[in-house]
Amino acid sequence: MSDFYNVHSPGVRQTVERTFIAIKPDAVQRGLIGQIIQRFESKGFKLVGLKLMSVSKELAEAHYGEHKERPFFGGLVSFLTSSPVVAMVWEGDGVVASARKIIGATNPLESAPGTVRGDFGVSIGRNLIHGSDAVETAQKEIALWFKEEELSAWTPELTGWLYED
Ligand code: RTP
Ligand code: MG
Repeated sequence: MSDFYNVHSPGVRQTVERTFIAIKPDAVQRGLIGQIIQRFESKGFKLVGLKLMSVSKELAEAHYGEHKERPFFGGLVSFLTSSPVVAMVWEGDGVVASARKIIGATNPLESAPGTVRGDFGVSIGRNLIHGSDAVETAQKEIALWFKEEELSAWTPELTGWLYED
């Protein structure tokens, strides 16, 4: 996570929270990219990295490494590598936990209506979107998926309308 100067608090060095979000192959194939991105954008989070990419087996295995002993691991890696994904980094106060709320519970049948998974999914193995589960995980995942130069530390003009001084 990088530090930068924010026009919202001129001259004050801030560390801003970032999360890693991936729109999975099912959501890309179903034409849901725009609707999913809109939810994060409308909420007020800032997009700092975005790319459509094919995922290698190595990257998929590294990304879901915590699950490598689970019975669904092989299917999960096959799924993530089956078609392009949209990899993104979003930034804002509390973005890691908030993004998990926007995404919804892991099983779409248990995800609340209004969440991405709750609105668009019916199956745990086709749950549309990934979001980092903690700030430390987010830092590792951002480093795994993005080079530093692929991220843009920009300041939206409306920052003062989203955050108090
Ligand atoms: P994600 O990492 O994709 O954002 O999902 P999550 O945190 O909500 O859930 P996690 O426990 O990290 O599981 C990672 C992905 O593995 C698949 N899964 N299948 N069949 C099963 O019991 C099962 N459990 C998990 C899901 O696709 C989940 O997104
Ligand atoms: Mg997870």
